[in-house]
Amino acid sequence: MPPPDAPTILLIGATGQIGHALRGPLSALGAVVAPDRDALDLAAPGTIRDAVREAAPDVIVNAAAYTAVDRAEEEPERAAALNARAPGVLAEAAAEAGAWLVHYSTDYVFDGTARAPYVETDRPHPINTYGRTKLEGEQAVEAVGGRHLILRTSWVYSARRANFLRSMLRLADEHDTLTVVDDQTGTPTWAGWIAEATAAVLGHVLDNGGPGGRYHLAASGQTSWYGFATAIFAQFGREDVTVEPIPTEEYPTPAARPAYTVLDSGTARTTFGLDIPTWSEQLAALRHQMDAETVP
Ligand SMILES: NC(=O)c1ccc[n+]([C@@H]2O[C@H](COP(=O)([O-])OP(=O)(O)OC[C@H]3O[C@@H](n4cnc5c(N)ncnc54)[C@H](OP(=O)(O)O)[C@@H]3O)[C@@H](O)[C@H]2O)c1
Repeated sequence: MPPPDAPTILLIGATGQIGHALRGPLSALGAVVAPDRDALDLAAPGTIRDAVREAAPDVIVNAAAYTAVDRAEEEPERAAALNARAPGVLAEAAAEAGAWLVHYSTDYVFDGTARAPYVETDRPHPINTYGRTKLEGEQAVEAVGGRHLILRTSWVYSARRANFLRSMLRLADEHDTLTVVDDQTGTPTWAGWIAEATAAVLGHVLDNGGPGGRYHLAASGQTSWYGFATAIFAQFGREDVTVEPIPTEEYPTPAARPAYTVLDSGTARTTFGLDIPTWSEQLAALRHQMDAETVP
């Protein structure tokens, strides 16, 4: 139970991968209010303003977004409403309420032409609609100029909702052999770790009055989707499945994917004293948590 003078935290997107994982860690920091989509619809700016006024929060954490990367190519207007415009409305409402806004963004703001991990000051240049709308959302938050944290993360997975890990485990039940792209490099990051790290960062800025700004917040290390798939099957005891590496050109998708989006999270590590485990340590931690939850 948070103390009586604990901050009120408005959590948006509490049913998503990161949002669901945030419920526990944020509850240790304050009183969490998590409206459903009827009460706060990112596509309806009036509901955003009303929900913020009603909650009168000290902190708003926005874990909601349009996250379907391929579908965004068919629905650019909806992706823009949720990813580009809603964050600006939220930032204005946060500023009016005197609240911190914590907002998530993505490695897909980069074009993937780098060959060393991206830092926060590297020039973004998205190559698909999802990345473009997410970048516009960052810019909208920054333009308002209120107290904010923009946390860019990458290749998010968890035991729930649609993500690469769950797709691989489902496909392993249906096929003996899978082909997986081996020429896109990035860093899988567990939603459970992102949530704990977010709470640590937020605790720091609440205690110290800052520093806000834009931070990379992804696991350490790097791999390809093929490398991640191989590690998932090893971690989940599915070595019976054969995984074969293929180039991106053999797996065409509606949205172009950047070839290299490793994020350097060193600034967050030093600024907030974060421990940043490797992606394979995070995968093992998820497996451990899943095992603990299924024990009767
Ligand atoms: N997934 C990734 O690989 C990845 C990578 C980098 C960055 N990110 C960023 O991390 C953040 C969280 O991603 P995630 O993967 O945890 O998301 P997710 O699992 O796809 O969940 C999205 C959340 O947004 C909510 N939502 C969707 N449309 C909404 C609307 N119109 N109004 C209010 N809420 C709405 C969903 O609610 P419902 O349950 O009602 O659908 C859900 O709670 C996003 O900012 C995303 O861009 C994700």
